[in-house]
Amino acid sequence: MRRFFHFFFKDYLILTFAIGLLVAGAGRSAFAGAGPASGIKEYKQNISTAEYEKRYNAVYGKFTEQMAEQGNPAGFVLDDGRDLFKKVEGSAGKSCASCHGENGEKLEGVAAAYPKYDPAIKGINTVALQINRCRKDHMGAPELKYESYNQVALELYVKSLSNGVPINVSIDGPARPFYEAGEAYYYKRQGQLNMSCAICHVKYAGHMIRANLLSNNRHHADHWPGYRLKWGKTGSLQKRFRGCNKKVRAKPLPFQCETYRDLELYLTYQANGLPVEVPGFRM
Ligand code: HEC
Ligand code: HEC
Repeated sequence: MRRFFHFFFKDYLILTFAIGLLVAGAGRSAFAGAGPASGIKEYKQNISTAEYEKRYNAVYGKFTEQMAEQGNPAGFVLDDGRDLFKKVEGSAGKSCASCHGENGEKLEGVAAAYPKYDPAIKGINTVALQINRCRKDHMGAPELKYESYNQVALELYVKSLSNGVPINVSIDGPARPFYEAGEAYYYKRQGQLNMSCAICHVKYAGHMIRANLLSNNRHHADHWPGYRLKWGKTGSLQKRFRGCNKKVRAKPLPFQCETYRDLELYLTYQANGLPVEVPGFRM
């Protein structure tokens, strides 16, 4: 198996990798498809976070850290988010700041517990979704298109009010079935390459795929929205979901759909205890 990670045929590597895994997995009763979460045979995390960081530094050096130190371009987006927070919009003549404090004081630390179950929508609420709910219900302003500049800027600003606060999402009580749905999705094989998120980010975390080191999923949800060099812009965690769906040639889902919110809960729970650190900076 390890041989697959010597990559000579760059463009075919993901495919080779996928086929390799399929062959390797064939004899191992892995699980097939969705099914109830309780039936999921979870993989063991392939490497510890410390070991991953060691490999990350070996592969990339301090490249992203240094770039981020020189100035994360998402910093400008954050500044715009702060301005938008104070901007009066909609028929009620209010800004976010009218209700949540001039500098968002009343929202400090709040985002560290998101996503969370909300009885009003009988499902999982995210910061991005709540922003639009507030605009619609409390401001009389139009909802912002997900992943538009202003949406991402506001999400980033609200999350930055929790920077340094340990992530603490709950999966108890009514949140539980949604968490399990997120987990089932994470372990479901999909796309033409028939791969699950968990194959890459749990089972093979720490291995190379093409020119990338596969990260383990414990620290996926603590630093988005963030700037990504490949995008040349600032985007959300759910934009990342869509990119990885496409990698295995599966159909990406709409932003903030139920499945992606459940998935966001699942991934954020894996990051429980880590401090919120936005904006992130990634290749
Ligand atoms: C007129 C008052 C009002 C305005 C204006 C308003 N909100 Fe809210 N916001 C609320 C209320 C009330 C809640 C509680 C949940 C609900 O009713 O939607 C809330 C909840 C929230 C929460 C979740 C808080 C928590 O403790 O879980 C966030 C985050 C938030 N608002 C962000 C914003 C942002 C960003 C804006 C501007 C786009 C905004 N709000 C505008 C009244 C407002
Ligand atoms: C074919 C392997 C593969 C599969 C399957 C895959 N990903 Fe990824 N993913 C990658 C690679 C490569 C990267 C970039 C390097 C890294 O951070 O691991 C990445 C990055 C990410 C990141 C950003 C990590 C960070 O540090 O910010 C997230 C979040 C993510 N993937 C989520 C998912 C989800 C959710 C799924 C399932 C829908 C999925 N991935 C499926 C290969 C994969």
